[in-house]
Amino acid sequence: EKGNFRHFMAKEMHEQPEVVAHTLAHYLDMASDTVQLPGNLPFDFAKLERVSIAACGTAYYAGLVAKYWFERYARLPVEIDVASEFRYREAPLPANGLSIVISQSGETADTLASLRYARDAKQHLLAVVNVPTSTIAREADVIMPTLAGPEIGVASTKAFTCQLATLAAVAVAAGRARGVISAAEERSLVHALVEVPRLMNEALKLEGDIEHLARSFAKTQDVLYLGRGTSYPLALEGALKLKEISYIHAEGYAAGELKHGPIALIDEKMPVVVIAPHDAVFEKTMSNMQEVAARGGRIILITDATGAAKASLETEATLVLPDMHPLVAPLVYAIPVQLLAYHTAVVMGTDVDQPRNLAKSVTVE
Ligand code: F6R
Repeated sequence: EKGNFRHFMAKEMHEQPEVVAHTLAHYLDMASDTVQLPGNLPFDFAKLERVSIAACGTAYYAGLVAKYWFERYARLPVEIDVASEFRYREAPLPANGLSIVISQSGETADTLASLRYARDAKQHLLAVVNVPTSTIAREADVIMPTLAGPEIGVASTKAFTCQLATLAAVAVAAGRARGVISAAEERSLVHALVEVPRLMNEALKLEGDIEHLARSFAKTQDVLYLGRGTSYPLALEGALKLKEISYIHAEGYAAGELKHGPIALIDEKMPVVVIAPHDAVFEKTMSNMQEVAARGGRIILITDATGAAKASLETEATLVLPDMHPLVAPLVYAIPVQLLAYHTAVVMGTDVDQPRNLAKSVTVE
């Protein structure tokens, strides 16, 4: 079942161009270059007051990316919380609010409880789920399926990028319905999404360089991941992936938070992974990178061709992706981040597909 791959995780990472293309095909009409959400929505995006997102772990990070998208492309206010907090914090939810839960398994106890909380608070309920027969899929008003296929590796990879593909489509649809983006803008966003599988294949070509990098990562105690904007959730995801499969301590931070504490950790031993596509906040992230360099930190920069040309600093390694539309960067940057965790774990000799203490589906709180 693993084909030529050593682990399910490796197979699932490499399946991403295909399953993301499949998921996008479900939401995009390539003939008209528009987003077409399947089925009839029981609510109107134009009338929504607010969106509340709840999810756990990697699915929560997909939601965090989506918050930036809903706000940027649909001018929709979004609140987001991990499901274990959302279900108990007694948040007041607005009339005409939309609750979005995101789950690969569709069985995560806290995420399901969040959905039920939102139902009791009379929210519209939309679930982004990978298992169509799951409890969450059954209980939501609307399901936006991710067509990732079965995910066996405990560390979520292809489900994450398919969640992002689905949420991007929903955000663009919301932007159109709310009159925030024009038909021409919708076309250019759809074109950007259609490019994702090709860009993911380019990202997978970095595997050799990443394997090399992983040998030095395997000797380290701690790693810091930094990013701004939609790269901030990617930093959190990178740190989570590394922790869960290699057991190396890692933390993800919004790059601007560096000077508010974590900078104290930086020395010549500490690798700092900087996720910085050449976007609106690139220069800001570069100045944070400068602060790391000034303290002798080891910098691993993940950027694009334009970013690599503009970054004037010495790095330990620079992983260069093609230039791309900012909407799709999180989907593509997920790949080097996953590969780095994977190859580090392989060097460490851990049980990549079944890391200690973890279960694929967390059905108890
Ligand atoms: C991380 C990981 C977990 C899950 C989380 C939610 O690699 O797999 O953090 O993302 O347990 O699971 P689902 O998406 O099934 O609700």
